[in-house]
Amino acid sequence: MRERSRVGGVGEVRLAVVKLGGSIITRKNVPFTPNLEAMRRISEELGRLYRLGWRFVVVLGGGSYGHPVAHEYMYSGLMATGEAFSAITRAMLELSEVFAEVASEYGLNPVIYPPHAFCRPRGFKPNCCWDIVRRAFWYDATPIVYGDAYPGYASIQIVSGDELAVEAACELGAERLVYLTDVPGVYDGEGRLIPLLTRAGLQELLEHESVGGSSSIDVTGGMRRKLQAILELGCQGLRVVIGAGTRPGTLALALEGRREAGTWVEL
Ligand SMILES: Nc1ncnc2c1ncn2[C@@H]1O[C@H](COP(=O)(O)OP(=O)(O)OP(=O)(O)O)[C@@H](O)[C@H]1O
Ligand SMILES: [Mg+2]
Repeated sequence: MRERSRVGGVGEVRLAVVKLGGSIITRKNVPFTPNLEAMRRISEELGRLYRLGWRFVVVLGGGSYGHPVAHEYMYSGLMATGEAFSAITRAMLELSEVFAEVASEYGLNPVIYPPHAFCRPRGFKPNCCWDIVRRAFWYDATPIVYGDAYPGYASIQIVSGDELAVEAACELGAERLVYLTDVPGVYDGEGRLIPLLTRAGLQELLEHESVGGSSSIDVTGGMRRKLQAILELGCQGLRVVIGAGTRPGTLALALEGRREAGTWVEL
Protein backbone atom coordinates (compact mmCIF):
# COMPACT_ATOMS: atom_id res chain seq x y z
CA MET A 1 0.00 0.00 0.00
CA ARG A 2 1.50 3.30 -1.11
CA GLU A 3 0.80 6.88 -0.19
CA ARG A 4 -0.75 8.92 -2.97
CA SER A 5 1.61 11.03 -4.98
CA ARG A 6 0.86 14.71 -5.49
CA VAL A 7 -0.64 16.20 -8.64
CA GLY A 8 2.66 17.72 -9.69
CA GLY A 9 2.34 20.40 -12.33
CA VAL A 10 -1.44 20.76 -12.17
CA GLY A 11 -1.40 23.80 -9.87
CA GLU A 12 -4.77 24.90 -8.50
CA VAL A 13 -6.96 22.54 -10.46
CA ARG A 14 -8.69 19.55 -8.92
CA LEU A 15 -8.18 16.15 -10.43
CA ALA A 16 -10.61 13.25 -10.73
CA VAL A 17 -10.30 9.94 -12.52
CA VAL A 18 -13.60 8.92 -14.11
CA LYS A 19 -14.10 5.42 -15.39
CA LEU A 20 -16.97 5.26 -17.84
CA GLY A 21 -18.37 1.73 -17.81
CA GLY A 22 -18.71 0.04 -21.14
CA SER A 23 -22.23 -0.74 -19.93
CA ILE A 24 -22.97 3.02 -20.17
CA ILE A 25 -21.07 4.30 -23.19
CA THR A 26 -21.85 1.31 -25.44
CA ARG A 27 -24.81 -0.95 -26.06
CA LYS A 28 -23.07 -3.79 -24.27
CA ASN A 29 -25.00 -6.57 -25.99
CA VAL A 30 -24.66 -5.23 -29.55
CA PRO A 31 -21.04 -5.51 -30.82
CA PHE A 32 -19.33 -2.26 -31.90
CA THR A 33 -22.30 -0.07 -30.98
CA PRO A 34 -21.64 3.16 -29.06
CA ASN A 35 -24.32 4.76 -26.90
CA LEU A 36 -23.90 8.24 -28.34
CA GLU A 37 -26.68 9.70 -26.25
CA ALA A 38 -24.90 8.64 -23.04
CA MET A 39 -21.54 9.83 -24.38
CA ARG A 40 -23.01 13.27 -25.11
CA ARG A 41 -24.74 13.59 -21.73
CA ILE A 42 -21.62 12.56 -19.80
CA SER A 43 -19.36 14.78 -21.94
CA GLU A 44 -21.68 17.70 -21.25
CA GLU A 45 -21.40 17.03 -17.48
CA LEU A 46 -17.62 16.63 -17.71
CA GLY A 47 -17.40 19.86 -19.75
CA ARG A 48 -19.38 21.82 -17.17
CA LEU A 49 -17.18 20.57 -14.30
CA TYR A 50 -14.05 21.19 -16.38
CA ARG A 51 -15.03 24.84 -16.72
CA LEU A 52 -15.40 24.96 -12.91
CA GLY A 53 -11.75 23.93 -12.60
CA TRP A 54 -11.87 20.14 -12.46
CA ARG A 55 -9.50 18.17 -14.66
CA PHE A 56 -10.10 14.56 -15.59
CA VAL A 57 -8.46 11.39 -16.68
CA VAL A 58 -11.22 9.52 -18.50
CA VAL A 59 -10.96 5.73 -18.53
CA LEU A 60 -13.15 3.78 -20.94
CA GLY A 61 -14.42 0.26 -20.28
CA GLY A 62 -14.49 -2.44 -22.95
CA GLY A 63 -18.26 -2.49 -23.45
CA SER A 64 -19.33 -3.92 -26.79
CA TYR A 65 -15.89 -3.19 -28.35
CA GLY A 66 -13.03 -4.83 -26.42
CA HIS A 67 -15.03 -7.45 -24.52
CA PRO A 68 -16.66 -9.40 -27.39
CA VAL A 69 -13.48 -9.35 -29.51
CA ALA A 70 -11.31 -10.61 -26.61
CA HIS A 71 -14.00 -13.15 -25.72
CA GLU A 72 -13.95 -14.59 -29.23
CA TYR A 73 -10.15 -15.04 -29.26
CA MET A 74 -10.12 -16.51 -25.76
CA TYR A 75 -12.74 -19.09 -26.53
CA SER A 76 -11.26 -20.11 -29.85
CA GLY A 77 -7.84 -20.59 -28.18
CA LEU A 78 -6.22 -17.89 -30.28
CA MET A 79 -5.13 -15.43 -27.60
CA ALA A 80 -1.42 -16.09 -28.26
CA THR A 81 -1.55 -14.56 -31.74
CA GLY A 82 -0.69 -11.25 -33.30
CA GLU A 83 -4.16 -11.24 -34.79
CA ALA A 84 -5.72 -11.14 -31.30
CA PHE A 85 -3.33 -8.37 -30.19
CA SER A 86 -4.14 -6.35 -33.27
CA ALA A 87 -7.92 -6.88 -33.21
CA ILE A 88 -8.42 -6.13 -29.50
CA THR A 89 -6.22 -3.02 -29.47
CA ARG A 90 -7.91 -1.69 -32.62
CA ALA A 91 -11.40 -2.28 -31.22
CA MET A 92 -10.55 -0.22 -28.14
CA LEU A 93 -8.85 2.50 -30.15
CA GLU A 94 -12.01 2.73 -32.27
CA LEU A 95 -14.18 3.17 -29.15
CA SER A 96 -11.83 5.82 -27.77
CA GLU A 97 -11.93 7.71 -31.07
CA VAL A 98 -15.73 7.74 -31.04
CA PHE A 99 -15.70 9.03 -27.46
CA ALA A 100 -12.96 11.61 -28.13
CA GLU A 101 -14.94 12.99 -31.06
CA VAL A 102 -17.95 13.56 -28.80
CA ALA A 103 -15.85 14.90 -25.88
CA SER A 104 -14.17 17.45 -28.14
CA GLU A 105 -17.57 18.93 -29.00
CA TYR A 106 -17.91 19.81 -25.29
CA GLY A 107 -14.54 21.59 -25.03
CA LEU A 108 -12.67 18.84 -23.18
CA ASN A 109 -9.57 18.74 -25.44
CA PRO A 110 -9.44 14.94 -25.35
CA VAL A 111 -6.14 13.21 -26.11
CA ILE A 112 -6.03 9.44 -26.50
CA TYR A 113 -3.16 7.65 -24.73
CA PRO A 114 -3.22 4.01 -25.95
CA PRO A 115 -2.27 2.09 -22.78
CA HIS A 116 -0.35 -0.67 -24.62
CA ALA A 117 2.10 2.08 -25.64
CA PHE A 118 2.93 3.38 -22.13
CA CYS A 119 2.11 0.51 -19.73
CA ARG A 120 3.93 -2.75 -19.01
CA PRO A 121 1.55 -4.79 -16.81
CA ARG A 122 2.70 -7.17 -14.12
CA GLY A 123 -0.24 -9.45 -13.42
CA PHE A 124 -3.23 -7.18 -12.95
CA LYS A 125 -1.08 -4.18 -12.06
CA PRO A 126 -1.07 -1.94 -15.15
CA ASN A 127 2.34 -0.45 -14.32
CA CYS A 128 1.88 2.56 -16.59
CA CYS A 129 4.16 5.56 -17.03
CA TRP A 130 1.68 8.16 -15.71
CA ASP A 131 4.24 10.97 -15.95
CA ILE A 132 3.63 10.93 -19.69
CA VAL A 133 -0.10 11.37 -19.12
CA ARG A 134 0.38 14.07 -16.45
CA ARG A 135 1.88 16.39 -19.05
CA ALA A 136 -1.52 16.64 -20.78
CA PHE A 137 -2.64 18.86 -17.87
CA TRP A 138 -0.01 21.46 -18.74
CA TYR A 139 -2.23 22.26 -21.70
CA ASP A 140 -5.65 21.66 -20.11
CA ALA A 141 -6.15 18.54 -22.18
CA THR A 142 -8.17 15.51 -21.02
CA PRO A 143 -6.29 12.22 -21.28
CA ILE A 144 -8.39 9.27 -22.47
CA VAL A 145 -7.18 5.77 -21.57
CA TYR A 146 -8.97 2.42 -21.67
CA GLY A 147 -8.89 -1.30 -20.89
CA ASP A 148 -6.40 -2.74 -23.35
CA ALA A 149 -4.41 -5.77 -24.58
CA TYR A 150 -0.65 -6.32 -24.07
CA PRO A 151 1.92 -8.78 -25.34
CA GLY A 152 2.53 -11.03 -22.30
CA TYR A 153 5.25 -13.71 -22.30
CA ALA A 154 2.85 -16.61 -22.89
CA SER A 155 -0.19 -14.93 -24.43
CA ILE A 156 -1.91 -11.65 -25.11
CA GLN A 157 -2.96 -10.23 -21.76
CA ILE A 158 -5.90 -7.99 -20.91
CA VAL A 159 -5.82 -5.32 -18.21
CA SER A 160 -9.19 -3.70 -17.61
CA GLY A 161 -10.06 -0.04 -17.35
CA ASP A 162 -11.08 -0.75 -13.75
CA GLU A 163 -7.47 -1.50 -12.83
CA LEU A 164 -6.05 1.32 -14.91
CA ALA A 165 -8.36 3.79 -13.18
CA VAL A 166 -7.15 2.88 -9.67
CA GLU A 167 -3.50 3.14 -10.64
CA ALA A 168 -4.07 6.47 -12.41
CA ALA A 169 -5.89 7.91 -9.37
CA CYS A 170 -3.10 6.87 -6.98
CA GLU A 171 -0.15 7.81 -9.17
CA LEU A 172 -1.59 11.17 -10.23
CA GLY A 173 -2.90 11.96 -6.75
CA ALA A 174 -6.54 12.37 -7.80
CA GLU A 175 -9.03 13.64 -5.23
CA ARG A 176 -11.67 11.21 -6.46
CA LEU A 177 -12.04 8.06 -8.45
CA VAL A 178 -15.53 7.69 -9.91
CA TYR A 179 -16.87 4.56 -11.59
CA LEU A 180 -19.98 5.23 -13.62
CA THR A 181 -21.72 1.96 -14.33
CA ASP A 182 -25.18 0.48 -15.00
CA VAL A 183 -26.07 -0.08 -11.33
CA PRO A 184 -26.49 2.64 -8.64
CA GLY A 185 -23.69 1.12 -6.55
CA VAL A 186 -22.71 -2.12 -4.84
CA TYR A 187 -25.45 -4.37 -3.45
CA ASP A 188 -25.08 -6.56 -0.39
CA GLY A 189 -26.31 -10.16 -0.12
CA GLU A 190 -29.90 -8.95 0.59
CA GLY A 191 -29.95 -6.67 -2.45
CA ARG A 192 -29.55 -3.45 -0.43
CA LEU A 193 -27.31 -0.69 -1.72
CA ILE A 194 -24.19 -0.35 0.44
CA PRO A 195 -23.55 3.35 1.31
CA LEU A 196 -19.91 3.06 2.45
CA LEU A 197 -17.17 0.46 2.33
CA THR A 198 -13.89 0.72 4.20
CA ARG A 199 -10.90 -1.49 3.40
CA ALA A 200 -12.06 -4.02 6.02
CA GLY A 201 -15.65 -3.89 4.73
CA LEU A 202 -14.47 -4.46 1.19
CA GLN A 203 -12.38 -7.44 2.25
CA GLU A 204 -15.35 -8.94 4.06
CA LEU A 205 -17.75 -8.30 1.17
CA LEU A 206 -15.44 -10.02 -1.31
CA GLU A 207 -15.51 -13.16 0.85
CA HIS A 208 -19.19 -13.54 -0.03
CA GLU A 209 -20.63 -14.59 -3.34
CA SER A 210 -23.14 -11.73 -3.52
CA VAL A 211 -20.64 -9.71 -5.56
CA GLY A 212 -20.37 -11.28 -8.95
CA GLY A 213 -19.46 -10.82 -12.55
CA SER A 214 -21.35 -9.07 -15.29
CA SER A 215 -24.69 -9.89 -16.88
CA SER A 216 -23.13 -9.16 -20.31
CA ILE A 217 -19.97 -10.42 -21.98
CA ASP A 218 -17.20 -9.08 -19.76
CA VAL A 219 -13.77 -10.69 -19.94
CA THR A 220 -12.57 -8.82 -16.87
CA GLY A 221 -15.21 -9.85 -14.39
CA GLY A 222 -17.91 -7.24 -13.61
CA MET A 223 -18.36 -5.77 -10.13
CA ARG A 224 -16.19 -8.34 -8.34
CA ARG A 225 -13.10 -7.49 -10.37
CA LYS A 226 -13.78 -3.76 -9.94
CA LEU A 227 -13.81 -4.11 -6.15
CA GLN A 228 -10.77 -6.39 -6.19
CA ALA A 229 -8.90 -3.79 -8.25
CA ILE A 230 -9.75 -1.09 -5.69
CA LEU A 231 -8.66 -3.32 -2.80
CA GLU A 232 -5.46 -4.63 -4.38
CA LEU A 233 -4.22 -1.54 -6.21
CA GLY A 234 -5.79 1.25 -4.15
CA CYS A 235 -3.64 3.58 -2.06
CA GLN A 236 -4.25 5.01 1.39
CA GLY A 237 -6.65 7.96 1.41
CA LEU A 238 -8.22 7.13 -1.95
CA ARG A 239 -11.91 8.08 -2.14
CA VAL A 240 -13.92 6.09 -4.65
CA VAL A 241 -17.54 6.29 -5.76
CA ILE A 242 -19.34 3.59 -7.72
CA GLY A 243 -22.52 5.15 -9.04
CA ALA A 244 -25.22 5.16 -11.68
CA GLY A 245 -23.92 6.35 -15.02
CA THR A 246 -27.48 6.20 -16.30
CA ARG A 247 -28.62 8.96 -13.92
CA PRO A 248 -27.73 12.55 -14.87
CA GLY A 249 -25.79 14.37 -12.17
CA THR A 250 -24.08 11.39 -10.54
CA LEU A 251 -20.66 12.76 -11.44
CA ALA A 252 -21.30 16.18 -9.86
CA LEU A 253 -22.66 14.51 -6.71
CA ALA A 254 -19.54 12.37 -6.50
CA LEU A 255 -17.21 15.36 -6.88
CA GLU A 256 -19.20 17.29 -4.26
CA GLY A 257 -18.71 14.36 -1.88
CA ARG A 258 -22.46 13.68 -1.52
CA ARG A 259 -23.50 10.28 -0.25
CA GLU A 260 -26.36 10.00 -2.80
CA ALA A 261 -23.70 9.61 -5.50
CA GLY A 262 -23.61 5.85 -4.94
CA THR A 263 -21.46 3.45 -2.93
CA TRP A 264 -18.40 5.15 -1.44
CA VAL A 265 -15.20 3.24 -0.86
CA GLU A 266 -12.68 4.91 1.47
CA LEU A 267 -9.29 3.29 1.80
N1 LIG B 1 -23.17 -7.07 -5.65
C1 LIG B 1 -23.28 -6.41 -6.82
N2 LIG B 1 -23.63 -5.09 -6.81
C2 LIG B 1 -23.74 -4.40 -7.98
N3 LIG B 1 -23.51 -4.95 -9.21
C3 LIG B 1 -23.15 -6.26 -9.28
C4 LIG B 1 -23.01 -7.03 -8.10
N4 LIG B 1 -22.65 -8.29 -8.48
C5 LIG B 1 -22.57 -8.30 -9.81
N5 LIG B 1 -22.87 -7.09 -10.33
C6 LIG B 1 -22.87 -6.79 -11.76
O1 LIG B 1 -21.79 -5.92 -12.08
C7 LIG B 1 -22.20 -5.16 -13.22
C8 LIG B 1 -21.32 -3.93 -13.41
O2 LIG B 1 -20.05 -4.32 -13.85
P1 LIG B 1 -19.71 -4.40 -15.43
O3 LIG B 1 -18.28 -4.81 -15.53
O4 LIG B 1 -20.73 -5.20 -16.18
O5 LIG B 1 -19.94 -2.91 -15.90
P2 LIG B 1 -18.92 -1.84 -16.41
O6 LIG B 1 -17.67 -1.88 -15.61
O7 LIG B 1 -19.73 -0.61 -16.39
O8 LIG B 1 -18.62 -2.28 -17.90
P3 LIG B 1 -17.19 -2.46 -18.63
O9 LIG B 1 -16.49 -3.62 -17.98
O10 LIG B 1 -17.54 -2.76 -20.06
O11 LIG B 1 -16.50 -1.18 -18.45
C9 LIG B 1 -23.65 -4.85 -12.95
O12 LIG B 1 -24.37 -4.65 -14.15
C10 LIG B 1 -24.15 -6.08 -12.20
O13 LIG B 1 -24.82 -6.96 -13.08
MG1 LIG C 1 -16.40 -4.58 -16.31
